[in-house]
Amino acid sequence: VSDRYPGSRALYARAQALIPGTTQTISKRPAAYAPGSYPMYADRGEGSNVWDVDGNRYVDYVLACGPIVLGYQHPSVQRAVTEQLGRGSLFGLLSPVEVIAAEAIAELVPRAEMVRFFKGGADATSAAARLARALTGRERIASSGYHGWHDQWVVNDPQNRAGVPHRLVDLVLPFAYSDLAGLEALFEEFRGEIAAVILEPLTVDAYDESFLQAVRRLTRATGALLIFDEIVTGFRLAPGGAQQWTRVEADLTVFAKALANGFPLAALCGPRDMMRTAADLFITSTYGDEALSLAACAATLEVMRDQPVHDSLWRIGGTLMSGLHSAAQETGAPVRLVGQAPMFRIAFDATALKSNGVTPRAVWRFLLSEMARRGVLWRPGGITFVSYAHTEADIQETVAAAQEVFAALADELRSGGLAPDGVAEPMFER
Ligand SMILES: Cc1ncc(COP(=O)(O)O)c(C=O)c1O
Repeated sequence: VSDRYPGSRALYARAQALIPGTTQTISKRPAAYAPGSYPMYADRGEGSNVWDVDGNRYVDYVLACGPIVLGYQHPSVQRAVTEQLGRGSLFGLLSPVEVIAAEAIAELVPRAEMVRFFKGGADATSAAARLARALTGRERIASSGYHGWHDQWVVNDPQNRAGVPHRLVDLVLPFAYSDLAGLEALFEEFRGEIAAVILEPLTVDAYDESFLQAVRRLTRATGALLIFDEIVTGFRLAPGGAQQWTRVEADLTVFAKALANGFPLAALCGPRDMMRTAADLFITSTYGDEALSLAACAATLEVMRDQPVHDSLWRIGGTLMSGLHSAAQETGAPVRLVGQAPMFRIAFDATALKSNGVTPRAVWRFLLSEMARRGVLWRPGGITFVSYAHTEADIQETVAAAQEVFAALADELRSGGLAPDGVAEPMFER
């Protein structure tokens, strides 16, 4: 056990007795990282940096699993939130920032003529499903990928459906991204019964433009709605989200994560003729119009509108991707980069790992702990993000660290020094 993290360890010991799973977001659980040799508790963040409770500084590529798109404590967002905090965060009367944030989304996102706000992504995807069912009078939803922890989104996931009423299983029809034939077969089998198709327009592992166009045609032809879950892609690839980038337009779109630079906010938006129906549905939440997050949202989107945020995410992310690629090539580490520059994933060559008898998890533990020791925070398996605050100097520092760590990894693999970690279950990576 390293002595770099005594403060983290002490807090973690208290959390283990108090908080089931030790924290609220499964993909942030310290057990999935490199227990004992990776920091667990953050003290503060600024720009691209995070300091842990033991005073160690890091360049952060986890960015709260996506929300921190402009960097920690971006001055415009700080100003807007501090100003709103001086007035109050929640009232019985409505807050002007609710209107201003909705206008900011409508200005940036294609076909977003009306907006409803929520506190989390799962609330917004469930609201999208309810609206689609109400608009079509149909009950089934064809769903690809992850859309949150609510019953209907995990009922088909054998790993995660404990406690979920099994009778919901027929309401949600899973299909795989890119599997057009599979989706068509569902529409054939459940003719006239599918209210909507919900999917991420692209994932870190797959982007298939012709598939998206085919799904668009199929939904139009069958009277189903197309829902884009842009919780990860939204405001990350382009100011108008992935649908601006792919030029395939959904009927309903859901955002969260990068929407408010770390404040808890999600949004469901779409054309007025569809969204108007949401007024008649029982969709309500006490904190839905909480004003600090709405102020953060309006400020975040204003920065995106007025500054070259996305040019920077593509450029900086691209420099990092190619630097890591070269480091892997030069050192012979079995590391690959997958995805788009503003959101990519570090992956391993499975056959190389297998022939060395190590699991991806063991390799992740090695990489995470060695990179953390050199002042870089990565996350296991999931998406590596960059923010608008990341600089060329950050990237150089990170690539230099990766060069050392990849070389050490290649040595460990050659010498058989990496112990299998004995943990078999797959990691949750959202
Ligand atoms: C694609 C996607 N949809 C939905 C969600 C759920 O969002 P939340 O965790 O805010 O409920 C996530 C969370 O990671 C996600 O990645």
